[in-house]
Amino acid sequence: MEILDGRALSSEIKARCKEDVAKLKERGITPGLAVILVGDDPASHTYVAMKEKSCKEVGIYSIVHKMPEDISQDKILETIEMMNQNPNIDGILLQLPLPEHINTQKLLSAIDPQKDVDGFHPTNVGKLVLGLDAFAPCTPLGVMELLKKYDIDPKGKDVCVVGASNIVGKPMMNLLLNANATVDICHIYTKDLAAHTRDADMVIVGVGKIGLITADMVKDGAIVIDIGINKTEDGKIVGDVAYEEVSKKCSYITPVPGGVGPMTIAMLMQNTVKSAKRRVDA
Ligand code: GUN
Repeated sequence: MEILDGRALSSEIKARCKEDVAKLKERGITPGLAVILVGDDPASHTYVAMKEKSCKEVGIYSIVHKMPEDISQDKILETIEMMNQNPNIDGILLQLPLPEHINTQKLLSAIDPQKDVDGFHPTNVGKLVLGLDAFAPCTPLGVMELLKKYDIDPKGKDVCVVGASNIVGKPMMNLLLNANATVDICHIYTKDLAAHTRDADMVIVGVGKIGLITADMVKDGAIVIDIGINKTEDGKIVGDVAYEEVSKKCSYITPVPGGVGPMTIAMLMQNTVKSAKRRVDA
């Protein structure tokens, strides 16, 4: 069994981004990322702090617009429009989830698709489905990078994706399909989850349920990718996979923490640099 080390690869990618940023700066371009953070969700605050820290490491200018929980949708929209117009901003990230009174899809659709480094705008979603060049969502993109690093080619593999969210499962399915995998996507209404995971060459899970994938649910030698981030009662961070037992059975596995998590942020840096590079040709 080999561990897919997302922490190490993320450092490598961030170092590469740092070099790219230095080159852009020589041409007078400083990549800029604007983050919009609404409300007091502690997990969102933690994630945004980690994103800011990485921007600093890489040399990306970042600005965080912190807004209260009861902010109006129009006020957020105004901020998005301001960032769309700001020539120093290459990436706009609306941290999710948003409070219930906000129409998330409407706001995501207001972001300039060229600055949509999260890949959530319908234009980028559509391009991803068509297999065109687009910003792809950072977490599934990070999984693809991790597979590439370890020479794991999804082509022809039976891959079972567990979780069908817009942020993770659906884009994961499209990236895998574009890489010629046979994709099976399961969700909360799937009748018999184990019947799907047991046959898969690769199981990718991201639903936020501790211990969901057990050893009896994966075949010998399977590749197991854990996107879940959960806190146990005693404050430990764990994924959705019963790591101890599953790791004994599979060929490759991602740890939590230190697997997919750090890759998400590395991909955000990479997407922001990619967006800034467009300024060179403009
Ligand atoms: N909330 C959880 N994951 C993400 C993500 O990748 N991007 C944004 N914007 N919000 C999130």
